Amino acid sequence: MDAENQHDLEVRIAACTRCRLASGRTRTVPGDGDPNAELMLIGEGPGFNEDQQGRPFVGQAGKLLDKLLGEIGLTREQVFVTNVVKCRPPNNRDPEADEIASCEPYLDEQIAGIRPKLIVTLGRFAMNYFLPRTTISRSHGRATQAGGWLIYPVYHPAAGLRQTRMLNVLREDFQRIPEFLATSDRPEVTAVERDAGGAEEPQGTQLSLL
Ligand code: URA
Repeated sequence: MDAENQHDLEVRIAACTRCRLASGRTRTVPGDGDPNAELMLIGEGPGFNEDQQGRPFVGQAGKLLDKLLGEIGLTREQVFVTNVVKCRPPNNRDPEADEIASCEPYLDEQIAGIRPKLIVTLGRFAMNYFLPRTTISRSHGRATQAGGWLIYPVYHPAAGLRQTRMLNVLREDFQRIPEFLATSDRPEVTAVERDAGGAEEPQGTQLSLL
């Protein structure tokens, strides 16, 4: 994504009133990092610190994210980090389906503009954006092709802050990211087509070799 498009998108997000989250925000949190990154990470939504600073993952969960990235030789400047919703839900509640739907055009534009080799979803909301019928316990640590994008779900870093067992799982799942980046190409697709859910199977193609 070129700088002009990125700036234009940030301006549109800053002015957005598409859903009720607009009325409670301090700042919008569009996402940041390298707009041409090979790796994109998508979280749930801004929390208190993100809402104050206008940047994603700057609180405790963000510190853990930085650490996990550091352990695989990556910095925040080398990746692009954003969220499913760009405004903080009140009291850090879960984002609601209509709020996620309102924010969809922004995330889709970011994904299509960046065309990352790999999309790491942090937690179940970002995972369900692409893979609506799976659970995080079943799908974390497994790369799946969905709509032409390579999706790699992992647990949300906040879960790693709460439980050592989760931290170990997160660490293990992060360790596989370099291998995906080394063996994948940027996708040819230029749009995000998501599975709307409904039927039980199939959804996405599990990459057995990965
Ligand atoms: N949790 C998220 O999902 N996103 C953030 O930006 C911060 C915490």
